[in-house]
Amino acid sequence: MPRRQFLPIGEKSCYRLLRSTLLKMRLPGLIICCDAVKSWAMLYPLIRKFFFALDAETAHGIGMNGISLLKTSGLAGLLVKPVTPCPVKVMGLTFPNPVGLAAGLDKNGDHIDALACLGFGFLEIGTITPRPQQGNPRPRLFRIPEAQGIINRMGFNNAGVDRLLENVRAAEFPKKGGILGINIGKNATTPIENAAEDYLICLEKVYREASYIAVNISSPNTKNLRELQKDDALDDLLMQLKARQEELAEKHGRYVPMALKIAPDLDDTQITAIADALRRHRMDGVIATNTTLSREEVEGMANASETGGLSGAPVFRKSTDVLKKLSTALAGELPIIGVGGIMGGEDAAEKIRAGASLVQFYSGFIYRGPDLVSEVAETLSHVIQKTR
Ligand SMILES: Cc1cc2nc3c(=O)[nH]c(=O)nc-3n(C[C@H](O)[C@H](O)[C@H](O)COP(=O)(O)O)c2cc1C
Repeated sequence: MPRRQFLPIGEKSCYRLLRSTLLKMRLPGLIICCDAVKSWAMLYPLIRKFFFALDAETAHGIGMNGISLLKTSGLAGLLVKPVTPCPVKVMGLTFPNPVGLAAGLDKNGDHIDALACLGFGFLEIGTITPRPQQGNPRPRLFRIPEAQGIINRMGFNNAGVDRLLENVRAAEFPKKGGILGINIGKNATTPIENAAEDYLICLEKVYREASYIAVNISSPNTKNLRELQKDDALDDLLMQLKARQEELAEKHGRYVPMALKIAPDLDDTQITAIADALRRHRMDGVIATNTTLSREEVEGMANASETGGLSGAPVFRKSTDVLKKLSTALAGELPIIGVGGIMGGEDAAEKIRAGASLVQFYSGFIYRGPDLVSEVAETLSHVIQKTR
């Protein structure tokens, strides 16, 4: 039976209270509207129209606060469609369903419980850096609606790892056993030669609070970050991270898996080299992929020439090709989290067929709204059942 996950207790009584208040206020029209709106599928096209009329980053802030408000008022659960359970064991963790929220939407973990309420099988928060930083100047987030794409050059704007930890400790989701990935990065002012120090600081600090740790070396918006994907630099970084992970596992009596997040802009030789390094250093997983620098799919469209990483439908093909090649190179030795351009259930199914064990999305959430979670979970439950 489909079940709702992490819904607030008392949502029905809250709704009854809202109805009776509207009745007392002699607003039966609004009651009819409330009763008619049974899911995000009906509401979201209207909400999106409103948001898309605003600057993208302003809309993001309002949207995230709106989801949190719905959660605290107990109303979010009313709009959430039941999510088909489909437990999967990956990196030693049991995920209630294979559908995750990708990094970047909730960089500081300010909205963990509200997002969890939408039925995701796991959430990834961050990227977080050791010290707070502002990121690039605004505007730095752009939509390409005709291609269902987004370009961002946020530049790891975040409140620093200590603030993220306060938020995680205050959240209910991890206490109830929810799977929370924490994505770590480096500060813009840290020279690339010292990048490992920043990753080690973050790893050490988030270790106890994370279900898994994502090591992000693939954002195109931090100068030279992607250089860390190359041969000796990657070898050195993974060696240091793995040694520290083992020390921390011993110290805390708990092994927290670590996954590397890679770019879609890699050639076949680079993919093979990364796969070898992941195996050699016994990494626990790999997240494929981040945003692309390519503009092939959006050439000539408004905003297409903005600097930054492109996500959404236009990155799907490139990202899924990298996933497929990586899967062949890894030959099942390491699980892959497939992300990039999932805008519907069928896209997610293609990621699983290409070799992913779990999926995540960000841009699809902006274009399709929260109903995408149940749609993807439903499709994947059939795909995964068939492969068992
Ligand atoms: C506005 C925005 C900010 C992002 N910030 C991060 C980030 O901080 N860390 C990270 O690893 N990925 C970040 N991403 C990349 C996403 O997690 C994801 O890998 C990428 O967008 C492809 O998935 P999608 O097509 O479903 O959006 C960001 C994406 C967007 C659109």
